[in-house]
Amino acid sequence: MGFFSNTKFAFAFFIFAFPFLLACSPSESSDHGFNYDEGTMRGPSRWGMLKPEWGNCSAGREQSPIDIGTVQVSSQLGDLQRNYSSAQAVLRNRTTDVAVVFIGDAGSITMNGIVYKAVNCHWHSPSEHTFNGTRYPLEIHIVHLSDRNETAVVGILYRYGLPDPFIASIFPDISILRREDIPLGTINPESIGIPGSSYYRYNGSLTTPPCSENVTWTVFKEVIKTVTPLGVEALRNVLPRQNRNNSRSIQPFNGRTVFNFFVPKMLVFDKCLLPPLISTTKKIIFPDVYETLVHFSPDPTPETYDFTVTVSIDDQIINFYVLKQFGIDFFLEEINQKHEVVIFMVGLKQYTSQVLDKLNPNGRSKSH
Ligand SMILES: *[C@@H]1O[C@H](CO)[C@@H](O)[C@H](O)[C@H]1NC(C)=O
Ligand SMILES: *[C@@H]1O[C@H](CO)[C@@H](O)[C@H](O)[C@H]1NC(C)=O
Ligand SMILES: *[C@@H]1O[C@H](CO)[C@@H](O)[C@H](O)[C@H]1NC(C)=O
Ligand SMILES: *[C@@H]1O[C@H](CO)[C@@H](O)[C@H](O)[C@H]1NC(C)=O
Ligand SMILES: *[C@@H]1O[C@H](CO)[C@@H](O)[C@H](O)[C@H]1NC(C)=O
Ligand SMILES: *[C@@H]1O[C@H](CO)[C@@H](O)[C@H](O)[C@H]1NC(C)=O
Ligand SMILES: *[C@@H]1O[C@H](CO)[C@@H](O)[C@H](O)[C@H]1NC(C)=O
Ligand SMILES: *[C@@H]1O[C@H](CO)[C@@H](O)[C@H](O)[C@H]1NC(C)=O
Repeated sequence: MGFFSNTKFAFAFFIFAFPFLLACSPSESSDHGFNYDEGTMRGPSRWGMLKPEWGNCSAGREQSPIDIGTVQVSSQLGDLQRNYSSAQAVLRNRTTDVAVVFIGDAGSITMNGIVYKAVNCHWHSPSEHTFNGTRYPLEIHIVHLSDRNETAVVGILYRYGLPDPFIASIFPDISILRREDIPLGTINPESIGIPGSSYYRYNGSLTTPPCSENVTWTVFKEVIKTVTPLGVEALRNVLPRQNRNNSRSIQPFNGRTVFNFFVPKMLVFDKCLLPPLISTTKKIIFPDVYETLVHFSPDPTPETYDFTVTVSIDDQIINFYVLKQFGIDFFLEEINQKHEVVIFMVGLKQYTSQVLDKLNPNGRSKSH
């Protein structure tokens, strides 16, 4: 049937990965006059007393990190506007953390019209922010500064799992890092891998002395970045023993508001906007349609089929006989309870529309 070879007729299914992007910048402080060991008189509870200019560490009213619990949902802000670029970077042992410090222009993020340039990224373990009391093994902070020295920090939490591609890419350097900086060549902060688009926004502070306030925090909500225990160990082992746990304790919330920004997702395919998702809380499932959910064959009529769809191509009427895989209706019905089901089918619009209509459980057909 020449029809198949000269007509672009195919089913395809796509797995849409979240764009994983990350960036790095210089840490909040490279002053070594503090540490994380309460037994030394220089631990977190005493930071505010060590130097007059560190007073906010104890007197501040809007300190970081915080436990993120109740949040105010808002869709007014869109995606975090990023315009990162590749820049020369070095890996630095800052005594209280390991940082990737950008030497050149690594680009920026823009919030409320203010441009904040990426200066470094560095890690804390375990995580400094917690979600409803849950602490994660690792957190990265991408530090940004505006022309007027206003600070914006992007925080991303990791759970244990597969190696993180960004950490893996500099793992050999982390392993041999001593006191001297190690040049890393050029790094684009995007390569850190930013998970999803939903984030928490609140006003806080640097989590290390001088604990300066008026820091705009963006903490990504999805904890889908993973790191191996080995990766976390490598980052910790660079540091002196008293700083291997370089996580400041949770700070008083003092009536602040945490906003949860998310963008109602618009999936774009072939420049066409797909309808917005019905639910912003349900996880999305992309079932694999071709040969898994349905099997089709054109004329002549096969022995068994569940329904036919008829399309007209170049004035030629063609019948397709579609056989649903066993249990498919039940399966779709079930996953539809808990998840947003998005079925991608590429092919003739006439054909795919009819198939999707017939597959849709309970006839709850969405636009397609
Ligand atoms: C504490 O933070 C406030 C507000 O950001 C600032 O005006 C003040 O100078 C800071 N205090 C110290 C001791 O740094
Ligand atoms: C914490 O739990 C509350 C109540 O279940 C929920 O509304 C909120 O979204 C949770 N916050 C986070 C950060 O998971
Ligand atoms: C992104 O930043 C570069 C400079 O780093 C600038 O030339 C470009 O105009 C910026 N693009 C946007 C969309 O802001
Ligand atoms: C910017 O802030 C940092 C601390 O965050 C401080 O060390 C530096 O002096 C400030 N620079 C200017 C120009 O205010
Ligand atoms: C990192 O720097 C600190 C302070 O200089 C030092 O104590 C520590 O030994 C260094 N780490 C390594 C692996 O050399
Ligand atoms: C942060 O504080 C400023 C005022 O200093 C306020 O306008 C802004 O809404 C606050 N942002 C958040 C996320 O609470
Ligand atoms: C806090 O930061 C915002 C923008 O980030 C700025 O407009 C405001 O003047 C700052 N407030 C103080 C007290 O520094
Ligand atoms: C890490 O340090 C923080 C703050 O000092 C403390 O609350 C926490 O218990 C420590 N965690 C571990 C695993 O030692």
